[in-house]
Amino acid sequence: MIVVFSKPHYSTINFIKELNFKSKMVMHIIEAQQLSRGILLKLFKRADQLRENPSNFLKGKILTSLFYEPSTRTRLSFEAAMLKLGGSVMGTENAREFSSVSKGESLEDSIRVIAGYSDVIILRNSIEGSSKLAACISSVPVINAGEGSGQHPTQAILDSYTLYREFGSLENLKIAAVGDLKYGRTIRSLCYLLGKFTGIELIFVSPENLKMKDDIKEYLLKHNTKFIEVDNLEEVLPMVDVIYMTRIQKERINKEEYELAKGKFVLNESNLNLIKEGAIIMHPLPHVEEINLSIKTEQNDSRIAYFRQAENGLYIRMAILEEVMKEKEK
Ligand code: CP
Repeated sequence: MIVVFSKPHYSTINFIKELNFKSKMVMHIIEAQQLSRGILLKLFKRADQLRENPSNFLKGKILTSLFYEPSTRTRLSFEAAMLKLGGSVMGTENAREFSSVSKGESLEDSIRVIAGYSDVIILRNSIEGSSKLAACISSVPVINAGEGSGQHPTQAILDSYTLYREFGSLENLKIAAVGDLKYGRTIRSLCYLLGKFTGIELIFVSPENLKMKDDIKEYLLKHNTKFIEVDNLEEVLPMVDVIYMTRIQKERINKEEYELAKGKFVLNESNLNLIKEGAIIMHPLPHVEEINLSIKTEQNDSRIAYFRQAENGLYIRMAILEEVMKEKEK
């Protein structure tokens, strides 16, 4: 039986409004816009170091992964990161079924209890605002590991780390964001980070019904980040340094909306030739029909960066865990 996770209590929603989660001594990672350019660059450098020389800085510490939605990369890379840093992991990959939420327990109570057992909580949930709620309650760092169609800040950190590794900097890049920009939490979070760097130009390519929402556009305007919206992928491919493909979030829309958007923008063997040498193709993964390339192409074409991107997730999450635990020690 799958139990739908209950919404936060009304009293807790008011409680969140009154509380500033950043005011505590604990560093939580809840939304991409909380991260400064300085902290990002620090994380990138530390991730590079940890790739070469792992440390056991988190020996004796416990990470709990609490996932109310499915995941491959985020959960496993966080867990691998913790293990590589000498720590231990526990948790559930299906908290809806295998935690006491199935008996009606609130997220608030679950977090309060789990914070007493662990040193960091990695939370994936379908309800926007739930990691902020958890952060308000938790005595240990809470990391948002993807929240409905809202945000996925550590994916954005790993995406920007990938740009840093591939291009040496995050300045002056022309980036096409393709696919479901309305419900895709990874590209939404990445836009918040890209707005912190100069010379970024964004080209949004999406089905009419899945365009980027106004909150992100307003943020980009405020940060003087150029963006345009177009509907022809083939025209865009030769012009850009990065093609950031995204999956249509089928699980968040109805059948009619999905049919309208499905197959509109697909990267295939023929339009791949339009992409310039030195450009890269990124994707948060999992990819489905929006990337229609052979395994041979995926293995041999160096422009395909999405598996390198996924691997970067391990090292950047090591750096993230170190950073939030360091904050906690203060
Ligand atoms: N990119 C990403 O969040 O992948 P998972 O859903 O597999 O964690």
